[in-house]
Amino acid sequence: MKVHILLGPPGSGKGTQAKRLVQKFKLNHLSTGDILRDAVSQGTEIGLKAKAIMASGKLVDDDTVNGLVFARLQQGFEGDVLFDGYPRTLQQAEALGEFLSTQQIGLGFVVNVAVPDGVLEARVVGRRVCSNNACGAIYHVESKPPKQDGICDLCGSPLKHRSDDTAEAFRSRMVEFNATFQPILGFYGRQTHFRSVDGNRPPEQVFEFLVQLFSENA
Ligand code: AP5
Ligand code: MG
Repeated sequence: MKVHILLGPPGSGKGTQAKRLVQKFKLNHLSTGDILRDAVSQGTEIGLKAKAIMASGKLVDDDTVNGLVFARLQQGFEGDVLFDGYPRTLQQAEALGEFLSTQQIGLGFVVNVAVPDGVLEARVVGRRVCSNNACGAIYHVESKPPKQDGICDLCGSPLKHRSDDTAEAFRSRMVEFNATFQPILGFYGRQTHFRSVDGNRPPEQVFEFLVQLFSENA
């Protein structure tokens, strides 16, 4: 088992690409955003703590997020894991590195989905997601509308607007991203399997690049 990592700003397309990669390469998708949103909707202790932080676009503390991730990894997986939205601070990257080496788990690809700031807000504000967490399909009111307004094409559940997909929360997420991203790049940019992909292209083209990369099987 290896872990692969998708990095990138809010709205860069990590979730969109992860869902397709997971299907094609039989990976296990670990999105810390999805795990935390599940915790919020279930009203767990972590969810209660994370709810307001997430809605405001701030980051949940490193120990909480690392704890959630390591607990999942310790359960074991058939096949590789694809992280989306983790690690997101230098502390998380370092803690993950230590965890992987003690558990003798390899690091596969680290891919930065690069998208210019100017196009991200419209992607995030116009995003709609399936309210059925098990499905979680991702839409956009303009660039990827569902066939029937407000209804998921895949499972028929209602679509919803994430509580942090407002212009205000988006700006706060960008502040967090800009404060944490350079140290992460410094940490992973030296890795042999680090790549950057131009995410400011149609999703299909981004996916083609990623398929080629993952076919190399790091
Ligand atoms: P998280 O859920 O990870 O959100 P994020 O990183 O802000 O990323 P998004 O999910 O907004 O964007 P995405 O890159 O997945 O884009 P998507 O594919 O959906 O985190 C949310 C919150 O949880 C954080 O703010 C924090 O509070 C907490 N959290 C999570 N992880 C944490 C951690 N490790 N540490 C601390 N706190 C953590 O696409 C976006 C839209 O664009 C969609 O509408 C889509 O249709 C469209 N789109 C996608 N690709 C394209 C394309 N190529 N061209 C045009 N449109 C596109
Ligand atoms: Mg996402």
